[in-house]
Amino acid sequence: MEQYHFNYLLTQTSELPEDIQVLIQSANTAAQTAYAPYSHFKVGAAVLLENGKILTGSNHENASYPAGICAERAALSHLNMNPEGSKVKAIAVAYDSGAAMDKPLSPCGICRQTILEVQQWQQKPIAVYMTAPDGKLIAVENAEYLLPFSFGSDFLNAPLR
Ligand code: THU
Repeated sequence: MEQYHFNYLLTQTSELPEDIQVLIQSANTAAQTAYAPYSHFKVGAAVLLENGKILTGSNHENASYPAGICAERAALSHLNMNPEGSKVKAIAVAYDSGAAMDKPLSPCGICRQTILEVQQWQQKPIAVYMTAPDGKLIAVENAEYLLPFSFGSDFLNAPLR
């Protein structure tokens, strides 16, 4: 039997380095720009680039429910995916459900797939910070840990760069 292990960090936002705290604050600020009249679940994502820039996005819902987009994919859609584009170091997600919650946000499956595509494109791990409104968080240093045995470009024989 094969085994698959990964490490994660369960901690408080205040325990993290300054640049990651700023990233998480950006995700929380982005959550307040969400358009979520159906779920009332406001999500924000903030993407930290190697050049220090932060890209943000929030969820935008639609009366035709599947037309809505999650915060993570909204944020990642701002990436410059040309070869000279700066690589992603980390992505932080935050939410505001109107209640005092202590459960770190778990990105949905489609967003995990999307984060992983970027990671495979840039050939460098992306750290994921999943936060709760009360400051609790779970962090993994590689997006692959959130989607093992994923489908990817290697099946399609397509060079990404
Ligand atoms: N949502 C996100 O934006 N990101 C996630 O990772 C989980 C879910 C949004 C989609 C929808 O607008 C609302 O949260 C409730 O599912």
